[in-house]
Amino acid sequence: MRTQLSFANAFEIETELLAVVAVDTQTGKGPEAKPQPVLLTADAAVTAAAAAVLASGEFKAGASETLLLHAPQGIAAKRLLIVGLGKQAKATANHVRNAAGTAVRYGKPRFIKELVLVLPEAGALAADACMRAAVEGAFVGDFDPDTYRSDRKDVSVETFTLIAKAGPDKAVLEAAFAEGVIVGESQNFTRVLVNEPGNKLTPTILGQRAAEMAAEVGLGCEVHSTEKLHELKMGAFWSVSQGSEEPPALIVLRYEPEGVNEGPILGLVGKGITFDSGGISLKPGDNMEKMKYDMAGGAAMIGAMRAIALLKPRVRVIGIVCAAENMPDGKAQKPGDVQTAMSGKTIEIINTDAEGRLVLADGLAYARQLGATHLIDAATLTGACVVALGMVNAGAFSNDDETYGRFESALAISGEKFWRLPLGDEYAEMIKSDIGDIKNTGGRWGGAITAAEFLKVFAEDTPWIHLDIAGMAWVEDSRPYIAKGPSGVAVRSILEWVRSY
Ligand code: BES
Ligand code: MN
Ligand code: ZN
Repeated sequence: MRTQLSFANAFEIETELLAVVAVDTQTGKGPEAKPQPVLLTADAAVTAAAAAVLASGEFKAGASETLLLHAPQGIAAKRLLIVGLGKQAKATANHVRNAAGTAVRYGKPRFIKELVLVLPEAGALAADACMRAAVEGAFVGDFDPDTYRSDRKDVSVETFTLIAKAGPDKAVLEAAFAEGVIVGESQNFTRVLVNEPGNKLTPTILGQRAAEMAAEVGLGCEVHSTEKLHELKMGAFWSVSQGSEEPPALIVLRYEPEGVNEGPILGLVGKGITFDSGGISLKPGDNMEKMKYDMAGGAAMIGAMRAIALLKPRVRVIGIVCAAENMPDGKAQKPGDVQTAMSGKTIEIINTDAEGRLVLADGLAYARQLGATHLIDAATLTGACVVALGMVNAGAFSNDDETYGRFESALAISGEKFWRLPLGDEYAEMIKSDIGDIKNTGGRWGGAITAAEFLKVFAEDTPWIHLDIAGMAWVEDSRPYIAKGPSGVAVRSILEWVRSY
């Protein structure tokens, strides 16, 4: 999808589809209070073209509600698509993001090749935030997961144009547009990786994909394997990998802006299990195919590093992805085994299916060894997190309020939903081991929290955030603005957290 920014008049644009957003301005409640949809554009001709249908009451401007007019009167576009944002008082830049995605997903199956969206003009919505969100949303909407279908029709919208009013903030809008392209493309880069099946994306191949991307955008990149794991004494990471024919990959991406030799070094650590069978604690067959997306945390870090390389914040960042395949085999680790992690801590393996925390334990330790002063990890870590928060919020944990505060502020920009869950000594008690320092599961209750407590042991005294994206990395039911499949969750929030430094 090509994207462009234009400062032309909406009514003059000759295009297959002109999209414009609308809000419901009704503030009253009750049966008398009928929706009052209003277009968010100052273009009188576009407003006039939509006046009759808006007056009809057929369109309520609900979030992602759509209405199409063919051959609209008085404007040059062939079709006019109105996309709802919902109630005016509640409308945010994130609604604009979703509306842009909705417009693209409306156009795609109808073979619309050129789509023009009018950037909403409304005092309450900051124009630059809406601009960026709209571009991101268009990319999010453009992605479909049917990579390997032989009847895949290339129905991508070819050009997506945003039109805005040229004012004194023209340069700001142009910058926001360029940012949106980088962020949207990076999120989709993550989604392409997450979508790949285990046979097409082994740890080694994930390493190659990361290295190719790094070369394109100018990041440092090293991809290590078995030998390096042994050299670094990564006994926890290796224990997951040892049951697979596929060698592990320790992927290290470095962003070192010129002239920045002091200040924080941010460590981004991702779980990259390219397939999680559970190992000897084998998972049931139902839905096991989904476990190809168990590398979504690692892919989120790779996508975030891409965006960082292109947006160039003034802070050093190291990205680490611990990639392995969790398989049962004669050489696989067994429940009861004791492993020694890179940090020297001993881990009793209770369940080989609690493998994510094992690879991350060594990933976090390695990030600290490389000098990280602040850590953030992302992982499809626990089913318990999905039980707790459903597929609405991802889980977040932190050992430091200042560090987490920055992440919370990042959410306001990214539009992603994370909910902070507690940590505490009582939970840490639950993972004490009789034979070693800790065990890799703490029983059924509070499973997302005991997993976070496990990671906290390896973050040690470094400020750290843990993101459990198990329920959010894969969209189970498509929505008007996003396809079923990989979501690319966390890329945007991690990026904004990094930029806060
Ligand atoms: N990769 C899974 C977690 C997961 C579950 C991700 C559902 C996405 C959707 C993880 O490795 C796992 O198996 N966790 C176990 C931990 C348990 C053995 C303590 C779980 O959640 O059941
Ligand atoms: Mn598992
Ligand atoms: Zn897993």
